[in-house]
Amino acid sequence: MKRTKLSQIFATEPIDTEVSVMGWVRSRRGNKYVQFVALNDGSTIRNLQVVFDMQQFTDEQLRAVTTGSSIHVTGRLVASQGKGQTVEVQASSLEVFGTADPASYPLQKKGHSLEFLRDIAHLRPRTNTFGAVLRIRSALAFAIHSFFNAKGFYYLNTPLITASDCEGAGAMFQVTTLDVANPPRTEDGAVDYSADFFGKPTALTVSGQLEGELGATALGAIYTFGPTFRAENSNTPRHLSEFWMIEPEMAFYDITDNMELAEEFIKFCISYALEHCADDIAFLAEHYDAELPQRLRDVVASDFVRLTYTEGVKILEESGKKFEFPVFWGADLQSEHERYLVEEHFRRPVILTDYPKDIKAFYMKLNDDGKTVRAMDVLFPKIGEIIGGSEREADYDKLLGRINEMNIPMKDMWWYLDTRRYGSVPHAGFGLGFERLVLFVTGMTNIRDVIPFPRTPKNAEF
Ligand code: 4AD
Ligand code: MG
Repeated sequence: MKRTKLSQIFATEPIDTEVSVMGWVRSRRGNKYVQFVALNDGSTIRNLQVVFDMQQFTDEQLRAVTTGSSIHVTGRLVASQGKGQTVEVQASSLEVFGTADPASYPLQKKGHSLEFLRDIAHLRPRTNTFGAVLRIRSALAFAIHSFFNAKGFYYLNTPLITASDCEGAGAMFQVTTLDVANPPRTEDGAVDYSADFFGKPTALTVSGQLEGELGATALGAIYTFGPTFRAENSNTPRHLSEFWMIEPEMAFYDITDNMELAEEFIKFCISYALEHCADDIAFLAEHYDAELPQRLRDVVASDFVRLTYTEGVKILEESGKKFEFPVFWGADLQSEHERYLVEEHFRRPVILTDYPKDIKAFYMKLNDDGKTVRAMDVLFPKIGEIIGGSEREADYDKLLGRINEMNIPMKDMWWYLDTRRYGSVPHAGFGLGFERLVLFVTGMTNIRDVIPFPRTPKNAEF
């Protein structure tokens, strides 16, 4: 008989038919007459109750059916008399695929802390919480591709290994095949990178944007969706060393078009999750964050505030609030400032624009005031910055001026400057931190809990 996934069983409830189900045992209880097994196969947060009539099965047969073991059951699906479930399976056959020794299985008991589960990240996908988070993460990835596909954007794959650090977005992880203990050296004693794999120093990318601009100025509108790497030593609940980013880039867009797209995009993703992940969101709301569903609906229903950095700083200065980091015009805003604007002052998401040029990347379009650039950060409740982007400087001479001002080596930049030398167009784009979106949608509070295998300083075990 063909196996049916539990998600399918709960969706269709084919009462009074024979079913074949496979999964992992979440728990077993009962007495000498009847045994109840809660089975989960990862396709849904819901467990299927499997009932073993002990007149048909022996204790010996059920001995290996312990928490964490994997089994195959066939039987009749019936309406359940008990509370907590609408249907159950009356088992007629049992096969044990794999045992899980109760003496050593780390998830033997329920209710482990998220901290404990981080130490067993290889097994935590088997918990309800991580099942829910990972299913939501997957649904969001699908929503992202659907959104851009429906808008006629092309999915562009940008390189993970790069020879340039033009973005300046953060410290990079070096990629080399040289013997680090004994690298070849030039006559003056420096490491001889001409002997390295690519014949020059290379690193993992911090962003696909610069290559994304090459795509956008050819295909019109593209998006990237891939891993990015930042070697900063920031141990915060919102930073990973390896995170996924979605970077749309659009020719013929100005900053207003860019803001509209960002708002529509993020609302689409949240609505998609509300519609398609209702069970998982309900589980997370029940166990972690009762306000989660309302917060998600509020953001979808709200118009994001649009405010300049200068106006934002004024509000912060006049707030009378004591911040850990001082605010003044020119300061890089910290998440406490961002969250004050969003959570206390406006009580809805804020798009902050026109930042001082000195705290933003070289490629952002310079405003006529000569002091600010057409940057936009989307700030979210509980998260702070979820999106960073800008209109790009399309003028060759102004861009070159910024490159020189910021001492960016020209030898790394010639290919990027060619977009402005040949058929330059106004264009804009942004980057959404995927894990920050998953954090928001799941209500989790630590970014390590929304990626299957987190990479953070001193942590790359699993
Ligand atoms: O603001 P960032 O650094 O912008 C860029 O990389 C641009 N190239 C984007 C673009 O215009 N195409 O990063 C974009 C977003 C941030 O808003 C944040 O959500 C996320 O990426 N992010 C991180 N997420 C997790 N861990 C980190 N260390 C992150 N750094 C940035
Ligand atoms: Mg940023």
